[in-house]
Amino acid sequence: MTYLDADEANKLLDAAKRAAEKTYSPYSHFVVGAALLAMDGQIYSGSNIENASYGLTVCAERIAIGNALTDGNNKFSAIAVYGNVDSISPCGACRQFIIEFGTDIMVIFRQDGHIVQRHISELLPYQFKMPG
Ligand code: THU
Repeated sequence: MTYLDADEANKLLDAAKRAAEKTYSPYSHFVVGAALLAMDGQIYSGSNIENASYGLTVCAERIAIGNALTDGNNKFSAIAVYGNVDSISPCGACRQFIIEFGTDIMVIFRQDGHIVQRHISELLPYQFKMPG
C-alpha cells in the first residue's frame, strides 16, 4: 500500500472516530475506534471492549479485524486508529494482529495532533512468524 492522500486518510480517521462512539470502556474511559480499509474498498470498524476482568479487554483494532474476517474479507490496505487524546498508536498486540494480514498495511493515527502514516512493518520490525 502506498500512502493515502490527505482526504482519504482523514476519511478513514473520521470512520474510526465514529466507531469510537460505540466503545464499551467503563473502566478506563479511554475511547478508541478503528476503521479498517479492505482492498475492495469496504470499511470495517471496531471499538475497544473492556471487561470487569480487565485482562480480557480487546482493543478496537482487533475488533475491526474480527468484523472483517467474519464478513469473509481478509485483504486489507490500511487501518486508522482514533483515540480521544492527542496521540495514539496501536499497542504491541495489535501490531502483531495487523501484520498477520500483510506487512504492507498502512497504519494511520494522530501524534500531537498530526496525522502519521506508517507501514505496519515499520511499526513492528522483526515480526514473529511461525517457522517453516
Ligand atoms: N486500546 C485500544 O483499543 N487499542 C490500542 O491500540 C491501545 C489500547 C484500548 C484498550 C483499553 O480499553 C484502553 O484502550 C486502555 O488501554
